[in-house]
Amino acid sequence: MRIDVVSIFPEYLAPLDLSLIGRAREEGILNLNVTNLRDFTTDRHHKVDDTPYGGGAGMVMMPEPWGQALDSVRASAPEAAKPILIVPSPAGAVFDQQMAYDFAEEDHLVFACGRYEGIDERVIDYARENFTVIPVSIGDYVLNGGEVAVMVMVEAIARLIPGVIGNPESLVEESHSDVLLEYPVYTKPAAWRGREVPEVLLGGNHQRVARFRRDEQIRRTATRRPDLINLLDAAKLNRKDRDA
Ligand code: ADE
Repeated sequence: MRIDVVSIFPEYLAPLDLSLIGRAREEGILNLNVTNLRDFTTDRHHKVDDTPYGGGAGMVMMPEPWGQALDSVRASAPEAAKPILIVPSPAGAVFDQQMAYDFAEEDHLVFACGRYEGIDERVIDYARENFTVIPVSIGDYVLNGGEVAVMVMVEAIARLIPGVIGNPESLVEESHSDVLLEYPVYTKPAAWRGREVPEVLLGGNHQRVARFRRDEQIRRTATRRPDLINLLDAAKLNRKDRDA
């Protein structure tokens, strides 16, 4: 997969050199390029923002550098496939695991990091000629810019690309892979500071272990995320699930 990120703070994205994402980049599974928006300014001060038409607080990102930057990203990619342009914004659709799965299937994602009060809306409109544009929020709160949201999304997406995670089985049972939150996990020692690992996990009875874990998933989801319980597919529940 290829990922382009356009930002006025390329250094913000430096952690994407580390850990599993860093290794995926080294191995060529992930081709991730960060572009500095200021490289597409023509004035001495590398200005990227100006006051909003109509008045109001803050500054708005100017269309000219964004137009040039997006043209450049588009020109460096094959003509045939229309890349997805993700615009992080608190005004976007809320990012979730299903979006991560969908984006992980794409060949080319481009992230346009806005700062200040946002990007001139004409850029978003123009971008639709060359990209499938999707404004995306990572949650109902306001960040200072799109960079941290991009890190969240890139991590959630990249780990789903085959070869990025050593043991792909770990993707199957995690929270949000189905509706339920994941079950609690334990490792050695079996007793620690007066707390014991649940006895059922020490016994090696796979059926009992599976039942225990599923009960814990249902209990956790009901207490922490009651909103998710309604999304459970009733046809997939059995009587023991309902007792939990
Ligand atoms: N930019 C500012 N706030 C944001 C949010 N919640 N999600 C995505 N991008 C943002």
